[in-house]
Amino acid sequence: MALVLAGGVVANSDGVYRADVRIDGETIAGIGTCVVGKGDEVLDVSGKYLLPGGIDAHTHFDLPLSNGVRTADSFFTGTRAAIAGGTTCVIDYATQFKSESLREGLGNWHRLADGKCFCDYAFHMAITDWNESVSDELPEMISSGVTSFKMYMAYKGSLQVDDGVIYWALKRVMEVGGLLCVHCENGDVISALTEELSRRGCVGPEFHPVSRPPVTETEAVSRLTSIASLVGAPVYVVHVSAYSSMEKIIEAKARGARLFAETCPQYLYLDDSLYGGGWEAAKYVCSPPLRGSENHEGLWASLRSGFTDVVATDHCSFNFEGQKDGGHKDGMRGDFAKIPNGMPGVESRVLLMYKGVSEGRLSLPAMVRVISSNPAAIFGIYPRKGILIPGADADIVVLNPSGKTVISARTQFQNVDYTPFEGVEVPASIDAVYLRGVEVFRGGKFLEDAPAGRYVPRRASGLSVTDGGGVAGTRL
Ligand code: URP
Ligand code: ZN
Ligand code: ZN
Repeated sequence: MALVLAGGVVANSDGVYRADVRIDGETIAGIGTCVVGKGDEVLDVSGKYLLPGGIDAHTHFDLPLSNGVRTADSFFTGTRAAIAGGTTCVIDYATQFKSESLREGLGNWHRLADGKCFCDYAFHMAITDWNESVSDELPEMISSGVTSFKMYMAYKGSLQVDDGVIYWALKRVMEVGGLLCVHCENGDVISALTEELSRRGCVGPEFHPVSRPPVTETEAVSRLTSIASLVGAPVYVVHVSAYSSMEKIIEAKARGARLFAETCPQYLYLDDSLYGGGWEAAKYVCSPPLRGSENHEGLWASLRSGFTDVVATDHCSFNFEGQKDGGHKDGMRGDFAKIPNGMPGVESRVLLMYKGVSEGRLSLPAMVRVISSNPAAIFGIYPRKGILIPGADADIVVLNPSGKTVISARTQFQNVDYTPFEGVEVPASIDAVYLRGVEVFRGGKFLEDAPAGRYVPRRASGLSVTDGGGVAGTRL
Protein backbone atom coordinates (compact mmCIF):
# COMPACT_ATOMS: atom_id res chain seq x y z
CA MET A 1 0.00 0.00 0.00
CA ALA A 2 1.32 3.41 -0.93
CA LEU A 3 1.34 6.38 1.43
CA VAL A 4 0.42 9.90 0.38
CA LEU A 5 1.66 12.88 2.37
CA ALA A 6 -1.15 15.25 1.49
CA GLY A 7 -1.66 18.98 1.73
CA GLY A 8 1.93 20.00 2.41
CA VAL A 9 4.32 22.31 0.61
CA VAL A 10 7.20 20.67 -1.24
CA ALA A 11 10.47 22.58 -1.01
CA ASN A 12 13.10 21.64 -3.59
CA SER A 13 16.17 23.61 -4.61
CA ASP A 14 14.36 24.91 -7.70
CA GLY A 15 11.20 26.09 -5.99
CA VAL A 16 8.50 25.71 -3.39
CA TYR A 17 5.02 24.52 -4.35
CA ARG A 18 1.85 22.94 -2.92
CA ALA A 19 1.83 19.25 -3.79
CA ASP A 20 1.03 15.83 -2.41
CA VAL A 21 3.81 13.25 -2.31
CA ARG A 22 3.05 9.59 -2.98
CA ILE A 23 5.50 7.11 -1.50
CA ASP A 24 5.51 3.56 -2.80
CA GLY A 25 8.03 1.28 -1.14
CA GLU A 26 11.39 3.02 -0.87
CA THR A 27 10.84 5.67 -3.49
CA ILE A 28 8.65 8.58 -4.45
CA ALA A 29 6.00 7.39 -6.88
CA GLY A 30 4.36 10.72 -7.66
CA ILE A 31 4.22 14.39 -6.77
CA GLY A 32 1.28 16.60 -7.66
CA THR A 33 -2.33 17.28 -6.89
CA CYS A 34 -3.89 14.05 -8.18
CA VAL A 35 -1.53 11.35 -6.97
CA VAL A 36 -3.75 9.41 -4.54
CA GLY A 37 -4.37 5.88 -5.81
CA LYS A 38 -7.01 3.35 -4.82
CA GLY A 39 -6.26 1.92 -1.38
CA ASP A 40 -3.55 4.49 -0.58
CA GLU A 41 -3.11 5.63 3.00
CA VAL A 42 -3.38 9.42 3.17
CA LEU A 43 -1.64 11.42 5.87
CA ASP A 44 -2.51 15.09 6.27
CA VAL A 45 0.62 17.26 6.40
CA SER A 46 -1.05 20.58 5.72
CA GLY A 47 0.84 23.54 7.07
CA LYS A 48 4.13 21.61 6.84
CA TYR A 49 7.07 21.76 4.49
CA LEU A 50 8.31 18.57 2.86
CA LEU A 51 12.04 18.79 2.23
CA PRO A 52 14.45 16.27 0.70
CA GLY A 53 16.34 14.63 3.55
CA GLY A 54 19.41 16.57 4.62
CA ILE A 55 22.79 15.33 3.41
CA ASP A 56 25.70 16.15 5.68
CA ALA A 57 28.78 15.88 3.48
CA HIS A 58 31.31 16.31 6.29
CA THR A 59 31.23 14.19 9.44
CA HIS A 60 33.78 12.40 11.59
CA PHE A 61 32.14 9.58 13.53
CA ASP A 62 34.22 7.04 15.44
CA LEU A 63 37.39 8.95 14.57
CA PRO A 64 40.47 7.89 16.54
CA LEU A 65 43.07 10.59 17.24
CA SER A 66 46.78 9.81 17.41
CA ASN A 67 46.75 10.25 21.23
CA GLY A 68 44.22 7.45 21.72
CA VAL A 69 41.20 9.74 22.16
CA ARG A 70 38.13 8.79 20.11
CA THR A 71 35.21 10.99 19.09
CA ALA A 72 32.27 10.89 21.48
CA ASP A 73 29.86 10.00 18.68
CA SER A 74 30.07 6.64 17.01
CA PHE A 75 28.28 5.84 13.77
CA PHE A 76 25.42 4.49 15.92
CA THR A 77 24.90 7.63 18.01
CA GLY A 78 25.93 10.13 15.35
CA THR A 79 23.62 8.86 12.63
CA ARG A 80 20.74 8.58 15.14
CA ALA A 81 21.27 12.25 15.99
CA ALA A 82 21.43 12.98 12.26
CA ILE A 83 17.96 11.49 11.70
CA ALA A 84 16.51 13.42 14.66
CA GLY A 85 17.84 16.57 13.03
CA GLY A 86 16.46 15.86 9.55
CA THR A 87 19.62 14.45 7.96
CA THR A 88 19.02 11.16 6.15
CA CYS A 89 22.47 10.67 4.64
CA VAL A 90 25.98 11.47 5.83
CA ILE A 91 29.27 11.33 3.94
CA ASP A 92 31.88 10.54 6.56
CA TYR A 93 35.64 10.90 6.18
CA ALA A 94 37.15 7.41 6.19
CA THR A 95 40.85 7.89 6.80
CA GLN A 96 43.98 6.17 5.56
CA PHE A 97 46.53 6.60 8.34
CA LYS A 98 50.30 6.43 7.81
CA SER A 99 51.52 3.19 6.23
CA GLU A 100 47.99 1.92 5.56
CA SER A 101 46.60 1.21 2.12
CA LEU A 102 43.38 2.92 1.05
CA ARG A 103 41.72 -0.48 1.01
CA GLU A 104 42.67 -1.01 4.67
CA GLY A 105 41.45 2.45 5.63
CA LEU A 106 38.13 1.95 3.87
CA GLY A 107 37.76 -1.54 5.38
CA ASN A 108 38.27 -0.07 8.85
CA TRP A 109 35.51 2.48 8.28
CA HIS A 110 33.10 -0.10 6.88
CA ARG A 111 33.68 -2.24 9.98
CA LEU A 112 32.83 0.74 12.18
CA ALA A 113 29.74 1.79 10.23
CA ASP A 114 28.13 -1.23 8.58
CA GLY A 115 24.99 -2.32 10.42
CA LYS A 116 25.25 0.58 12.87
CA CYS A 117 23.86 3.54 10.98
CA PHE A 118 20.38 4.98 11.39
CA CYS A 119 20.69 7.07 8.24
CA ASP A 120 22.20 6.18 4.88
CA TYR A 121 25.93 6.73 4.65
CA ALA A 122 28.78 7.07 2.21
CA PHE A 123 32.50 7.71 2.57
CA HIS A 124 35.08 10.11 1.29
CA MET A 125 38.64 8.81 1.70
CA ALA A 126 41.15 11.02 3.50
CA ILE A 127 44.67 10.29 2.30
CA THR A 128 47.51 11.06 4.71
CA ASP A 129 50.25 8.90 3.15
CA TRP A 130 50.50 9.43 -0.60
CA ASN A 131 52.70 7.11 -2.66
CA GLU A 132 52.65 5.17 -5.95
CA SER A 133 50.69 2.24 -4.65
CA VAL A 134 48.08 4.57 -3.12
CA SER A 135 47.84 6.33 -6.46
CA ASP A 136 47.29 2.91 -8.09
CA GLU A 137 44.45 2.16 -5.67
CA LEU A 138 42.29 5.10 -6.73
CA PRO A 139 40.34 3.22 -9.45
CA GLU A 140 39.45 0.54 -6.88
CA MET A 141 38.13 3.26 -4.55
CA ILE A 142 36.01 4.68 -7.35
CA SER A 143 34.53 1.26 -8.09
CA SER A 144 33.80 0.84 -4.36
CA GLY A 145 31.69 3.99 -4.54
CA VAL A 146 34.25 6.30 -2.94
CA THR A 147 34.60 9.05 -5.52
CA SER A 148 35.96 11.89 -3.40
CA PHE A 149 39.19 12.13 -1.46
CA LYS A 150 40.59 14.51 1.09
CA MET A 151 43.94 16.02 1.93
CA TYR A 152 44.96 18.26 4.79
CA MET A 153 47.21 21.29 4.37
CA ALA A 154 47.32 21.53 8.19
CA TYR A 155 47.99 19.30 11.23
CA LYS A 156 51.76 19.21 10.73
CA GLY A 157 53.32 15.95 11.79
CA SER A 158 50.13 13.92 11.53
CA LEU A 159 47.66 14.48 8.69
CA GLN A 160 49.37 17.29 6.72
CA VAL A 161 50.67 16.73 3.20
CA ASP A 162 52.88 19.10 1.20
CA ASP A 163 52.06 21.06 -1.94
CA GLY A 164 53.83 18.56 -4.22
CA VAL A 165 51.56 15.81 -2.93
CA ILE A 166 48.52 18.02 -3.48
CA TYR A 167 49.72 18.59 -7.06
CA TRP A 168 50.12 14.87 -7.80
CA ALA A 169 46.89 13.95 -6.06
CA LEU A 170 44.87 16.61 -7.93
CA LYS A 171 46.21 15.23 -11.22
CA ARG A 172 45.53 11.61 -10.40
CA VAL A 173 42.13 12.15 -8.79
CA MET A 174 41.05 14.12 -11.85
CA GLU A 175 42.33 11.32 -14.12
CA VAL A 176 40.11 8.74 -12.36
CA GLY A 177 37.11 11.09 -12.42
CA GLY A 178 37.09 11.89 -8.71
CA LEU A 179 37.06 15.07 -6.65
CA LEU A 180 39.66 16.17 -4.11
CA CYS A 181 38.44 17.90 -0.94
CA VAL A 182 41.02 19.95 0.92
CA HIS A 183 41.37 21.30 4.46
CA CYS A 184 42.96 24.67 3.78
CA GLU A 185 45.13 26.07 6.57
CA ASN A 186 48.88 26.72 6.44
CA GLY A 187 50.06 23.98 8.82
CA ASP A 188 53.71 25.10 8.84
CA VAL A 189 52.92 28.65 9.89
CA ILE A 190 50.35 27.43 12.45
CA SER A 191 52.96 25.13 13.93
CA ALA A 192 55.47 28.03 14.19
CA LEU A 193 52.86 30.33 15.76
CA THR A 194 51.88 27.62 18.23
CA GLU A 195 55.51 27.14 19.26
CA GLU A 196 56.00 30.89 19.62
CA LEU A 197 52.89 31.21 21.79
CA SER A 198 54.00 28.28 23.91
CA ARG A 199 57.44 29.87 24.47
CA ARG A 200 55.68 32.99 25.72
CA GLY A 201 53.49 30.92 28.06
CA CYS A 202 50.35 31.65 26.04
CA VAL A 203 48.82 28.21 26.25
CA GLY A 204 45.17 28.69 27.33
CA PRO A 205 42.37 27.86 24.88
CA GLU A 206 41.94 31.58 24.17
CA PHE A 207 45.19 31.33 22.18
CA HIS A 208 43.86 28.65 19.82
CA PRO A 209 42.47 31.26 17.35
CA VAL A 210 45.64 33.35 17.74
CA SER A 211 47.64 30.39 16.47
CA ARG A 212 45.40 30.09 13.39
CA PRO A 213 44.54 33.61 12.21
CA PRO A 214 42.35 34.06 9.10
CA VAL A 215 45.38 34.67 6.88
CA THR A 216 46.57 31.09 7.51
CA GLU A 217 43.34 29.85 5.95
CA THR A 218 43.12 32.49 3.21
CA GLU A 219 46.70 31.91 2.05
CA ALA A 220 46.10 28.14 1.90
CA VAL A 221 42.86 28.59 -0.08
CA SER A 222 44.71 30.84 -2.51
CA ARG A 223 47.61 28.38 -2.83
CA LEU A 224 45.23 25.46 -3.38
CA THR A 225 43.19 27.24 -6.04
CA SER A 226 46.41 28.21 -7.82
CA ILE A 227 47.68 24.62 -7.82
CA ALA A 228 44.27 23.33 -8.94
CA SER A 229 44.12 25.81 -11.81
CA LEU A 230 47.65 24.85 -12.87
CA VAL A 231 46.52 21.21 -12.99
CA GLY A 232 43.08 22.10 -14.40
CA ALA A 233 41.45 19.93 -11.74
CA PRO A 234 38.21 20.48 -9.85
CA VAL A 235 38.60 20.93 -6.12
CA TYR A 236 36.34 21.23 -3.06
CA VAL A 237 37.34 23.45 -0.13
CA VAL A 238 35.99 22.12 3.17
CA HIS A 239 34.79 24.24 6.11
CA VAL A 240 35.53 27.81 4.93
CA SER A 241 35.48 29.98 8.04
CA ALA A 242 36.75 33.45 7.06
CA TYR A 243 35.22 35.82 4.55
CA SER A 244 38.70 36.72 3.26
CA SER A 245 38.99 33.07 2.15
CA MET A 246 35.57 33.22 0.49
CA GLU A 247 36.77 36.25 -1.46
CA LYS A 248 39.59 34.12 -2.92
CA ILE A 249 37.03 31.45 -3.84
CA ILE A 250 34.71 34.01 -5.42
CA GLU A 251 37.62 35.40 -7.49
CA ALA A 252 38.61 31.91 -8.67
CA LYS A 253 35.00 30.97 -9.48
CA ALA A 254 34.63 34.21 -11.42
CA ARG A 255 37.65 33.12 -13.48
CA GLY A 256 35.76 29.89 -14.23
CA ALA A 257 37.53 27.54 -11.82
CA ARG A 258 35.72 24.29 -11.07
CA LEU A 259 35.77 24.96 -7.42
CA PHE A 260 33.30 24.09 -4.66
CA ALA A 261 33.09 25.71 -1.26
CA GLU A 262 31.64 24.40 1.96
CA THR A 263 30.93 26.24 5.19
CA CYS A 264 29.38 25.12 8.47
CA PRO A 265 26.73 26.53 10.84
CA GLN A 266 29.36 27.33 13.48
CA TYR A 267 31.03 29.80 11.11
CA LEU A 268 27.68 31.40 10.28
CA TYR A 269 26.41 31.79 13.85
CA LEU A 270 29.23 31.62 16.39
CA ASP A 271 32.19 33.94 16.82
CA ASP A 272 35.57 34.18 18.47
CA SER A 273 34.21 35.94 21.58
CA LEU A 274 33.49 32.39 22.78
CA TYR A 275 37.22 31.93 23.31
CA GLY A 276 37.09 34.43 26.16
CA GLY A 277 35.36 32.13 28.64
CA GLY A 278 38.24 30.45 30.48
CA TRP A 279 38.37 26.67 30.16
CA GLU A 280 34.84 26.54 28.73
CA ALA A 281 36.52 27.88 25.60
CA ALA A 282 37.90 24.38 24.96
CA LYS A 283 34.37 23.47 23.75
CA TYR A 284 34.88 25.73 20.75
CA VAL A 285 38.37 24.58 19.83
CA CYS A 286 38.00 23.44 16.24
CA SER A 287 40.06 24.04 13.12
CA PRO A 288 39.74 26.43 11.48
CA PRO A 289 38.65 28.32 14.60
CA LEU A 290 35.57 30.49 15.01
CA ARG A 291 36.13 33.94 13.51
CA GLY A 292 35.09 37.49 14.30
CA SER A 293 31.36 38.16 13.83
CA GLU A 294 32.22 40.61 11.02
CA ASN A 295 32.66 37.51 8.82
CA HIS A 296 29.05 36.35 9.21
CA GLU A 297 27.31 38.68 6.80
CA GLY A 298 29.71 37.88 3.94
CA LEU A 299 29.40 34.15 4.53
CA TRP A 300 25.59 34.37 4.46
CA ALA A 301 25.78 36.48 1.30
CA SER A 302 28.01 33.84 -0.32
CA LEU A 303 25.34 31.24 0.41
CA ARG A 304 22.59 33.42 -1.04
CA SER A 305 24.54 34.15 -4.19
CA GLY A 306 25.53 30.52 -4.72
CA PHE A 307 29.29 31.02 -4.27
CA THR A 308 29.17 28.71 -1.26
CA ASP A 309 27.84 25.40 -2.49
CA VAL A 310 27.37 23.34 0.65
CA VAL A 311 26.65 23.72 4.36
CA ALA A 312 27.98 20.66 6.20
CA THR A 313 28.77 20.30 9.89
CA ASP A 314 32.30 18.90 10.27
CA HIS A 315 30.70 17.06 13.21
CA CYS A 316 33.65 15.84 15.28
CA SER A 317 32.45 15.60 18.86
CA PHE A 318 34.46 15.33 22.04
CA ASN A 319 33.02 15.60 25.54
CA PHE A 320 34.01 18.72 27.43
CA GLU A 321 34.37 16.69 30.63
CA GLY A 322 37.11 14.15 30.26
CA GLN A 323 38.17 14.85 26.69
CA LYS A 324 38.35 18.56 25.85
CA ASP A 325 39.10 19.63 29.43
CA GLY A 326 42.12 17.39 29.60
CA GLY A 327 40.66 14.80 31.96
CA HIS A 328 41.82 12.05 29.64
CA LYS A 329 45.48 12.85 30.04
CA ASP A 330 47.41 14.37 32.93
CA GLY A 331 49.06 17.63 32.16
CA MET A 332 46.90 18.53 29.19
CA ARG A 333 45.12 21.31 31.04
CA GLY A 334 46.96 24.42 30.13
CA ASP A 335 47.90 23.60 26.55
CA PHE A 336 45.44 24.52 23.81
CA ALA A 337 47.52 22.57 21.28
CA LYS A 338 46.53 19.33 23.01
CA ILE A 339 42.77 19.94 23.08
CA PRO A 340 41.02 17.54 20.68
CA ASN A 341 39.83 19.66 17.75
CA GLY A 342 36.21 19.61 16.67
CA MET A 343 32.62 20.28 17.65
CA PRO A 344 29.28 18.50 17.44
CA GLY A 345 26.58 19.72 15.05
CA VAL A 346 25.03 16.97 12.91
CA GLU A 347 21.72 17.22 14.77
CA SER A 348 21.21 20.97 14.52
CA ARG A 349 22.29 21.81 10.95
CA VAL A 350 18.91 21.62 9.19
CA LEU A 351 17.09 23.64 11.84
CA LEU A 352 19.90 26.20 12.08
CA MET A 353 19.70 26.76 8.35
CA TYR A 354 15.93 27.09 8.60
CA LYS A 355 16.51 29.73 11.28
CA GLY A 356 18.44 31.61 8.59
CA VAL A 357 15.42 31.26 6.29
CA SER A 358 13.07 32.53 9.00
CA GLU A 359 15.31 35.56 9.50
CA GLY A 360 15.36 36.38 5.79
CA ARG A 361 19.04 35.50 5.31
CA LEU A 362 18.36 32.72 2.80
CA SER A 363 15.42 31.56 0.69
CA LEU A 364 13.97 28.12 1.36
CA PRO A 365 15.10 26.75 -2.07
CA ALA A 366 18.61 28.08 -1.41
CA MET A 367 18.59 26.34 1.95
CA VAL A 368 17.58 23.04 0.29
CA ARG A 369 20.30 23.59 -2.32
CA VAL A 370 23.08 23.87 0.26
CA ILE A 371 21.93 21.25 2.78
CA SER A 372 20.78 18.56 0.35
CA SER A 373 20.74 19.04 -3.43
CA ASN A 374 24.27 20.33 -3.92
CA PRO A 375 25.98 17.83 -1.62
CA ALA A 376 24.06 15.09 -3.46
CA ALA A 377 25.01 16.45 -6.89
CA ILE A 378 28.64 17.29 -6.17
CA PHE A 379 29.27 13.93 -4.53
CA GLY A 380 27.46 11.76 -7.07
CA ILE A 381 24.17 10.66 -5.50
CA TYR A 382 21.80 13.06 -7.26
CA PRO A 383 18.94 12.77 -8.17
CA ARG A 384 18.50 9.55 -6.19
CA LYS A 385 18.90 11.82 -3.18
CA GLY A 386 18.80 15.60 -2.74
CA ILE A 387 15.49 16.25 -4.49
CA LEU A 388 11.87 15.19 -4.15
CA ILE A 389 10.89 13.85 -7.59
CA PRO A 390 9.32 10.62 -8.79
CA GLY A 391 11.89 7.83 -8.71
CA ALA A 392 14.04 9.40 -6.00
CA ASP A 393 14.53 7.79 -2.61
CA ALA A 394 11.68 8.77 -0.31
CA ASP A 395 14.00 10.50 2.18
CA ILE A 396 11.67 13.22 3.43
CA VAL A 397 11.74 15.71 6.27
CA VAL A 398 8.38 17.03 7.50
CA LEU A 399 9.26 20.44 8.88
CA ASN A 400 6.68 22.38 10.88
CA PRO A 401 7.18 26.14 10.44
CA SER A 402 4.75 26.78 13.31
CA GLY A 403 6.78 24.68 15.73
CA LYS A 404 9.58 25.76 18.01
CA THR A 405 12.86 24.11 18.95
CA VAL A 406 15.34 25.19 21.59
CA ILE A 407 18.68 23.52 20.95
CA SER A 408 20.09 22.06 24.15
CA ALA A 409 22.49 19.38 25.37
CA ARG A 410 19.72 18.23 27.74
CA THR A 411 17.45 17.17 24.90
CA GLN A 412 19.87 16.27 22.11
CA PHE A 413 20.53 12.78 20.75
CA GLN A 414 24.20 13.57 20.03
CA ASN A 415 26.27 11.53 22.49
CA VAL A 416 28.24 14.46 23.84
CA ASP A 417 27.94 16.59 26.97
CA TYR A 418 27.40 19.96 25.29
CA THR A 419 26.22 21.67 22.14
CA PRO A 420 27.89 24.84 20.86
CA PHE A 421 24.38 26.10 20.04
CA GLU A 422 22.97 25.81 23.58
CA GLY A 423 19.80 27.87 23.98
CA VAL A 424 19.47 28.84 20.32
CA GLU A 425 15.80 29.09 19.40
CA VAL A 426 14.50 28.03 16.01
CA PRO A 427 10.92 28.88 15.00
CA ALA A 428 10.27 25.40 13.55
CA SER A 429 10.38 21.75 14.49
CA ILE A 430 11.12 18.52 12.70
CA ASP A 431 7.84 16.66 12.97
CA ALA A 432 8.78 13.51 11.10
CA VAL A 433 11.56 11.95 9.06
CA TYR A 434 11.19 9.26 6.39
CA LEU A 435 14.16 7.17 5.34
CA ARG A 436 13.57 5.45 1.99
CA GLY A 437 9.82 5.45 2.59
CA VAL A 438 9.85 4.33 6.21
CA GLU A 439 8.84 6.78 8.89
CA VAL A 440 11.73 6.48 11.34
CA PHE A 441 11.23 9.53 13.56
CA ARG A 442 8.07 11.35 14.71
CA GLY A 443 7.36 13.90 17.43
CA GLY A 444 10.83 13.68 18.96
CA LYS A 445 10.81 9.88 19.14
CA PHE A 446 12.39 7.09 17.11
CA LEU A 447 9.93 4.64 15.63
CA GLU A 448 12.59 2.05 14.79
CA ASP A 449 15.09 0.67 17.32
CA ALA A 450 17.36 -1.00 14.81
CA PRO A 451 19.71 0.96 12.55
CA ALA A 452 18.27 0.85 9.02
CA GLY A 453 20.86 3.00 7.23
CA ARG A 454 22.51 1.61 4.11
CA TYR A 455 25.85 2.21 2.48
CA VAL A 456 25.42 4.43 -0.59
CA PRO A 457 28.07 3.82 -3.26
CA ARG A 458 28.57 7.06 -5.18
CA ARG A 459 29.15 7.91 -8.82
CA ALA A 460 31.79 10.39 -9.79
CA SER A 461 30.28 13.85 -10.25
CA GLY A 462 31.81 17.14 -9.23
CA LEU A 463 28.92 19.20 -10.58
CA SER A 464 26.49 21.26 -8.52
CA VAL A 465 22.74 21.40 -9.18
CA THR A 466 23.21 24.65 -11.03
CA ASP A 467 25.50 22.90 -13.52
CA GLY A 468 22.85 20.25 -14.09
CA GLY A 469 23.31 18.14 -11.01
CA GLY A 470 25.88 15.70 -12.21
CA VAL A 471 26.65 14.03 -15.46
CA ALA A 472 23.64 11.78 -15.14
CA GLY A 473 21.17 14.40 -14.04
CA THR A 474 18.25 12.38 -15.34
CA ARG A 475 19.48 8.95 -14.36
CA LEU A 476 18.31 7.63 -11.00
O1 URP B 1 38.47 20.80 14.26
C1 URP B 1 38.09 20.05 13.38
N1 URP B 1 37.55 20.55 12.31
N2 URP B 1 38.23 18.73 13.51
C2 URP B 1 37.89 17.74 12.58
C3 URP B 1 38.97 17.46 11.58
C4 URP B 1 38.97 18.46 10.47
O2 URP B 1 39.88 19.27 10.40
O3 URP B 1 38.08 18.46 9.63
ZN1 ZN C 1 39.33 19.89 8.40
ZN1 ZN D 1 36.47 17.67 9.23
